[in-house]
Amino acid sequence: MTTRADIADYIKDQAALIERELERSVPAEWNMPAALREAMQYSLMAGGKRLRPILVLAAAEALGGRPEDALPVALAVEMIHTYSLIHDDLPAMDNDDFRRGKPTNHKVFGEAMAILAGDALLTHAFYSVVQAARKSGVPGDTIADIVEELSRLSGAPGMVGGQAADMEGEQGVTRLEELEYIHLHKTSDLIVFSVKAGGRIAGASREQLAALERFGTCIGLAFQIQDDILDLVGDETKLGKPVQSDVKQQKVTYPYFIGIEASQAKVEELTREAREAITTAGFPSPERLLQLADYLMKRDH
Ligand code: FPP
Ligand code: MG
Repeated sequence: MTTRADIADYIKDQAALIERELERSVPAEWNMPAALREAMQYSLMAGGKRLRPILVLAAAEALGGRPEDALPVALAVEMIHTYSLIHDDLPAMDNDDFRRGKPTNHKVFGEAMAILAGDALLTHAFYSVVQAARKSGVPGDTIADIVEELSRLSGAPGMVGGQAADMEGEQGVTRLEELEYIHLHKTSDLIVFSVKAGGRIAGASREQLAALERFGTCIGLAFQIQDDILDLVGDETKLGKPVQSDVKQQKVTYPYFIGIEASQAKVEELTREAREAITTAGFPSPERLLQLADYLMKRDH
Protein backbone atom coordinates (compact mmCIF):
# COMPACT_ATOMS: atom_id res chain seq x y z
CA MET A 1 0.00 0.00 0.00
CA THR A 2 1.40 3.36 -0.94
CA THR A 3 0.07 6.58 0.48
CA ARG A 4 -0.18 10.19 -0.51
CA ALA A 5 2.95 10.86 1.53
CA ASP A 6 4.89 8.43 -0.64
CA ILE A 7 3.96 10.17 -3.84
CA ALA A 8 4.63 13.57 -2.30
CA ASP A 9 8.14 12.33 -1.40
CA TYR A 10 8.64 10.91 -4.87
CA ILE A 11 7.65 14.25 -6.42
CA LYS A 12 9.98 16.12 -4.07
CA ASP A 13 12.94 13.87 -4.86
CA GLN A 14 12.37 13.92 -8.60
CA ALA A 15 11.89 17.70 -8.58
CA ALA A 16 15.17 18.11 -6.67
CA LEU A 17 16.99 15.94 -9.22
CA ILE A 18 15.49 17.92 -12.10
CA GLU A 19 16.44 21.22 -10.49
CA ARG A 20 20.04 20.14 -9.96
CA GLU A 21 20.25 19.24 -13.62
CA LEU A 22 18.44 22.35 -14.86
CA GLU A 23 20.90 24.46 -12.93
CA ARG A 24 23.76 23.16 -15.08
CA SER A 25 21.82 22.61 -18.28
CA VAL A 26 23.27 25.63 -20.10
CA PRO A 27 26.96 24.73 -20.52
CA ALA A 28 29.14 27.02 -18.38
CA GLU A 29 31.72 27.28 -21.18
CA TRP A 30 29.24 28.71 -23.69
CA ASN A 31 30.10 32.30 -24.43
CA MET A 32 26.96 34.42 -24.13
CA PRO A 33 25.86 37.76 -22.69
CA ALA A 34 25.69 37.42 -18.91
CA ALA A 35 22.26 39.06 -18.76
CA LEU A 36 20.83 36.48 -21.17
CA ARG A 37 22.19 33.58 -19.14
CA GLU A 38 20.84 35.20 -15.99
CA ALA A 39 17.39 35.77 -17.48
CA MET A 40 17.19 32.16 -18.69
CA GLN A 41 18.35 30.84 -15.34
CA TYR A 42 16.02 33.14 -13.37
CA SER A 43 12.90 31.54 -14.81
CA LEU A 44 14.29 28.02 -15.07
CA MET A 45 15.08 28.09 -11.36
CA ALA A 46 11.98 29.99 -10.24
CA GLY A 47 10.33 26.93 -8.75
CA GLY A 48 7.21 25.36 -10.11
CA LYS A 49 5.94 21.86 -9.63
CA ARG A 50 8.20 20.31 -12.32
CA LEU A 51 5.20 18.23 -13.25
CA ARG A 52 6.04 17.72 -16.92
CA PRO A 53 9.62 16.48 -16.42
CA ILE A 54 8.43 14.27 -13.56
CA LEU A 55 5.93 12.73 -15.96
CA VAL A 56 8.70 12.04 -18.48
CA LEU A 57 10.68 10.15 -15.83
CA ALA A 58 7.64 8.34 -14.43
CA ALA A 59 6.52 7.17 -17.87
CA ALA A 60 10.00 5.78 -18.60
CA GLU A 61 9.95 4.03 -15.22
CA ALA A 62 6.46 2.60 -15.89
CA LEU A 63 7.91 0.72 -18.85
CA GLY A 64 11.07 -0.39 -17.11
CA GLY A 65 13.29 2.28 -18.69
CA ARG A 66 16.14 4.01 -16.89
CA PRO A 67 15.08 7.45 -15.66
CA GLU A 68 18.60 8.84 -16.24
CA ASP A 69 18.29 8.07 -19.96
CA ALA A 70 15.11 10.15 -20.03
CA LEU A 71 16.55 13.06 -18.06
CA PRO A 72 17.71 15.27 -21.00
CA VAL A 73 14.21 15.02 -22.48
CA ALA A 74 12.67 15.80 -19.09
CA LEU A 75 14.80 18.96 -18.92
CA ALA A 76 13.79 19.86 -22.46
CA VAL A 77 10.09 19.85 -21.69
CA GLU A 78 10.63 22.07 -18.66
CA MET A 79 12.60 24.50 -20.87
CA ILE A 80 9.69 24.68 -23.30
CA HIS A 81 7.20 25.10 -20.47
CA THR A 82 9.34 27.87 -18.94
CA TYR A 83 9.69 29.74 -22.22
CA SER A 84 5.93 29.58 -22.73
CA LEU A 85 5.31 31.05 -19.29
CA ILE A 86 7.81 33.89 -19.85
CA HIS A 87 6.12 34.81 -23.12
CA ASP A 88 2.61 34.31 -21.70
CA ASP A 89 3.35 36.85 -18.94
CA LEU A 90 4.55 39.56 -21.37
CA PRO A 91 2.59 42.81 -21.67
CA ALA A 92 1.47 41.81 -25.19
CA MET A 93 -0.08 38.64 -23.78
CA ASP A 94 -1.38 38.35 -20.21
CA ASN A 95 0.66 41.23 -18.80
CA ASP A 96 1.31 39.58 -15.45
CA ASP A 97 3.69 40.98 -12.84
CA PHE A 98 4.01 37.85 -10.72
CA ARG A 99 4.52 34.16 -11.41
CA ARG A 100 5.11 31.50 -8.77
CA GLY A 101 5.28 34.27 -6.18
CA LYS A 102 8.16 36.06 -7.92
CA PRO A 103 8.29 39.05 -10.29
CA THR A 104 7.87 37.88 -13.87
CA ASN A 105 10.90 37.73 -16.17
CA HIS A 106 10.18 40.98 -18.02
CA LYS A 107 9.67 42.80 -14.71
CA VAL A 108 13.24 41.91 -13.75
CA PHE A 109 15.11 41.89 -17.08
CA GLY A 110 12.93 44.07 -19.30
CA GLU A 111 10.67 43.07 -22.11
CA ALA A 112 13.26 42.62 -24.86
CA MET A 113 15.52 40.38 -22.75
CA ALA A 114 12.52 38.35 -21.57
CA ILE A 115 11.55 37.66 -25.18
CA LEU A 116 15.12 36.56 -25.94
CA ALA A 117 15.36 34.41 -22.81
CA GLY A 118 12.19 32.63 -23.97
CA ASP A 119 13.59 32.20 -27.48
CA ALA A 120 16.84 30.82 -26.09
CA LEU A 121 15.07 28.32 -23.81
CA LEU A 122 12.92 27.10 -26.67
CA THR A 123 15.99 26.53 -28.82
CA HIS A 124 17.95 24.97 -26.00
CA ALA A 125 15.25 22.37 -25.44
CA PHE A 126 16.15 20.72 -28.76
CA TYR A 127 19.82 20.73 -27.84
CA SER A 128 18.88 18.99 -24.61
CA VAL A 129 16.84 16.27 -26.35
CA VAL A 130 19.86 15.37 -28.48
CA GLN A 131 21.94 14.91 -25.32
CA ALA A 132 19.92 11.75 -24.62
CA ALA A 133 21.75 10.24 -27.59
CA ARG A 134 25.11 11.76 -26.73
CA LYS A 135 25.10 10.81 -23.05
CA SER A 136 23.00 7.65 -22.81
CA GLY A 137 23.15 6.23 -26.30
CA VAL A 138 19.42 6.53 -26.93
CA PRO A 139 19.05 5.48 -30.61
CA GLY A 140 18.99 8.24 -33.23
CA ASP A 141 15.63 7.01 -34.53
CA THR A 142 14.05 7.46 -31.12
CA ILE A 143 15.54 10.95 -30.89
CA ALA A 144 14.08 11.77 -34.32
CA ASP A 145 10.62 10.63 -33.17
CA ILE A 146 10.90 12.70 -30.01
CA VAL A 147 12.10 15.83 -31.85
CA GLU A 148 9.31 15.46 -34.38
CA GLU A 149 6.69 15.10 -31.68
CA LEU A 150 8.10 17.94 -29.58
CA SER A 151 8.01 20.25 -32.63
CA ARG A 152 4.42 19.32 -33.35
CA LEU A 153 3.02 19.30 -29.84
CA SER A 154 4.76 22.47 -28.67
CA GLY A 155 4.36 24.21 -32.06
CA ALA A 156 1.62 25.61 -34.28
CA PRO A 157 -0.72 22.59 -34.17
CA GLY A 158 0.03 22.21 -30.44
CA MET A 159 0.76 24.57 -27.57
CA VAL A 160 1.40 27.69 -29.68
CA GLY A 161 -1.81 27.02 -31.62
CA GLY A 162 -3.72 26.62 -28.36
CA GLN A 163 -2.33 29.91 -27.10
CA ALA A 164 -3.25 31.64 -30.40
CA ALA A 165 -6.80 30.24 -30.21
CA ASP A 166 -7.02 31.42 -26.60
CA MET A 167 -5.93 34.92 -27.64
CA GLU A 168 -8.34 35.09 -30.55
CA GLY A 169 -11.16 33.67 -28.51
CA GLU A 170 -10.84 36.07 -25.60
CA GLN A 171 -14.37 36.95 -24.60
CA GLY A 172 -15.63 35.37 -27.79
CA VAL A 173 -15.62 31.73 -26.66
CA THR A 174 -19.25 30.69 -26.53
CA ARG A 175 -19.10 26.91 -26.68
CA LEU A 176 -17.53 24.36 -24.39
CA GLU A 177 -15.93 22.65 -27.41
CA GLU A 178 -13.98 25.80 -28.23
CA LEU A 179 -12.71 25.99 -24.68
CA GLU A 180 -11.80 22.31 -24.83
CA TYR A 181 -9.77 22.91 -28.01
CA ILE A 182 -7.80 25.62 -26.23
CA HIS A 183 -7.12 23.47 -23.18
CA LEU A 184 -6.23 20.38 -25.22
CA HIS A 185 -3.57 22.25 -27.13
CA LYS A 186 -2.38 24.89 -24.71
CA THR A 187 -1.99 22.48 -21.82
CA SER A 188 -2.57 18.80 -22.68
CA ASP A 189 -0.26 18.63 -25.67
CA LEU A 190 2.91 19.22 -23.66
CA ILE A 191 1.74 16.71 -21.07
CA VAL A 192 1.01 14.18 -23.83
CA PHE A 193 4.49 14.82 -25.19
CA SER A 194 6.00 14.25 -21.75
CA VAL A 195 4.52 10.83 -21.11
CA LYS A 196 5.01 9.60 -24.67
CA ALA A 197 8.63 10.76 -24.76
CA GLY A 198 9.33 8.92 -21.49
CA GLY A 199 7.67 5.88 -23.03
CA ARG A 200 9.69 6.20 -26.23
CA ILE A 201 12.96 6.28 -24.30
CA ALA A 202 11.89 3.05 -22.59
CA GLY A 203 11.08 1.45 -25.95
CA ALA A 204 7.26 1.62 -25.76
CA SER A 205 5.23 -0.29 -28.33
CA ARG A 206 2.65 1.40 -30.53
CA GLU A 207 -0.15 0.25 -28.20
CA GLN A 208 1.68 1.48 -25.14
CA LEU A 209 2.23 4.87 -26.79
CA ALA A 210 -1.49 5.06 -27.56
CA ALA A 211 -2.28 4.34 -23.90
CA LEU A 212 0.17 7.03 -22.81
CA GLU A 213 -1.40 9.46 -25.24
CA ARG A 214 -4.84 8.85 -23.78
CA PHE A 215 -3.45 9.11 -20.26
CA GLY A 216 -1.74 12.43 -21.09
CA THR A 217 -4.76 13.91 -22.82
CA CYS A 218 -7.03 13.09 -19.89
CA ILE A 219 -4.75 14.27 -17.09
CA GLY A 220 -3.86 17.37 -19.14
CA LEU A 221 -7.49 18.36 -19.47
CA ALA A 222 -8.16 17.47 -15.83
CA PHE A 223 -5.15 19.58 -14.85
CA GLN A 224 -6.45 22.61 -16.71
CA ILE A 225 -9.98 22.27 -15.32
CA GLN A 226 -8.45 22.01 -11.85
CA ASP A 227 -6.52 25.20 -12.64
CA ASP A 228 -9.81 26.92 -13.46
CA ILE A 229 -11.34 25.60 -10.23
CA LEU A 230 -8.37 26.76 -8.16
CA ASP A 231 -8.57 30.20 -9.70
CA LEU A 232 -12.05 30.42 -8.16
CA VAL A 233 -11.63 28.69 -4.83
CA GLY A 234 -7.86 28.27 -4.35
CA ASP A 235 -5.53 29.79 -1.78
CA GLU A 236 -3.49 32.69 -3.11
CA THR A 237 -0.40 31.97 -0.98
CA LYS A 238 -0.31 28.32 -2.04
CA LEU A 239 -0.80 29.19 -5.70
CA GLY A 240 1.80 31.97 -5.74
CA LYS A 241 -0.48 34.13 -7.87
CA PRO A 242 -3.67 36.10 -7.32
CA VAL A 243 -6.93 34.14 -7.44
CA GLN A 244 -10.11 35.23 -9.25
CA SER A 245 -7.98 36.45 -12.15
CA ASP A 246 -10.18 34.60 -14.68
CA VAL A 247 -13.26 36.36 -13.32
CA LYS A 248 -11.50 39.74 -13.39
CA GLN A 249 -10.33 39.18 -16.95
CA GLN A 250 -13.81 37.88 -17.81
CA LYS A 251 -12.24 34.64 -18.96
CA VAL A 252 -14.54 31.87 -20.01
CA THR A 253 -13.65 28.74 -18.02
CA TYR A 254 -15.00 25.26 -17.32
CA PRO A 255 -16.74 26.34 -14.10
CA TYR A 256 -18.23 29.26 -16.03
CA PHE A 257 -19.88 26.86 -18.47
CA ILE A 258 -20.91 23.95 -16.27
CA GLY A 259 -20.50 25.16 -12.68
CA ILE A 260 -17.97 24.23 -10.08
CA GLU A 261 -19.47 20.91 -8.97
CA ALA A 262 -19.78 19.53 -12.49
CA SER A 263 -16.23 20.74 -13.15
CA GLN A 264 -15.00 18.82 -10.12
CA ALA A 265 -16.89 15.73 -11.30
CA LYS A 266 -15.28 16.11 -14.73
CA VAL A 267 -11.81 16.19 -13.17
CA GLU A 268 -12.61 12.94 -11.36
CA GLU A 269 -14.02 11.32 -14.47
CA LEU A 270 -10.98 12.27 -16.56
CA THR A 271 -8.67 10.95 -13.88
CA ARG A 272 -10.54 7.63 -13.91
CA GLU A 273 -10.24 7.47 -17.68
CA ALA A 274 -6.53 8.23 -17.51
CA ARG A 275 -5.94 5.49 -14.96
CA GLU A 276 -7.92 3.02 -17.02
CA ALA A 277 -5.83 3.70 -20.12
CA ILE A 278 -2.73 2.65 -18.21
CA THR A 279 -4.16 -0.25 -16.22
CA THR A 280 -5.62 -1.92 -19.30
CA ALA A 281 -2.37 -1.57 -21.27
CA GLY A 282 -0.40 -3.88 -18.98
CA PHE A 283 2.58 -1.72 -18.06
CA PRO A 284 5.21 -3.50 -15.94
CA SER A 285 5.47 -0.75 -13.26
CA PRO A 286 2.58 1.70 -13.62
CA GLU A 287 2.34 2.72 -9.92
CA ARG A 288 3.97 6.14 -10.11
CA LEU A 289 1.99 7.23 -13.15
CA LEU A 290 -1.26 6.20 -11.47
CA GLN A 291 -0.34 7.96 -8.24
CA LEU A 292 0.59 11.11 -10.16
CA ALA A 293 -2.83 11.16 -11.81
CA ASP A 294 -4.51 10.95 -8.38
CA TYR A 295 -2.17 13.49 -6.86
CA LEU A 296 -2.95 16.02 -9.61
CA MET A 297 -6.68 15.58 -9.13
CA LYS A 298 -6.34 16.44 -5.44
CA ARG A 299 -3.79 19.24 -5.79
CA ASP A 300 -4.40 22.63 -4.21
CA HIS A 301 -1.73 24.59 -6.08
C1 FPP B 1 0.68 26.28 -15.45
O1 FPP B 1 1.44 25.11 -15.28
C2 FPP B 1 0.60 26.47 -16.91
C3 FPP B 1 -0.40 26.01 -17.67
C4 FPP B 1 -1.64 25.43 -17.12
C5 FPP B 1 -0.26 26.05 -19.15
C6 FPP B 1 -0.61 27.36 -19.71
C7 FPP B 1 -0.14 27.42 -21.12
C8 FPP B 1 0.42 28.48 -21.62
C9 FPP B 1 0.59 29.70 -20.78
C10 FPP B 1 0.87 28.41 -23.03
C11 FPP B 1 1.60 29.63 -23.42
C12 FPP B 1 2.16 29.46 -24.77
C13 FPP B 1 2.85 30.42 -25.43
C14 FPP B 1 3.41 30.06 -26.74
C15 FPP B 1 3.08 31.77 -24.89
P1 FPP B 1 1.94 24.63 -13.89
O2 FPP B 1 0.83 24.74 -12.89
O3 FPP B 1 2.62 23.33 -14.07
O4 FPP B 1 3.01 25.73 -13.50
P2 FPP B 1 4.28 25.57 -12.58
O5 FPP B 1 5.36 25.12 -13.52
O6 FPP B 1 4.48 26.96 -12.08
O7 FPP B 1 4.00 24.58 -11.49
MG1 MG C 1 -1.10 33.79 -18.07
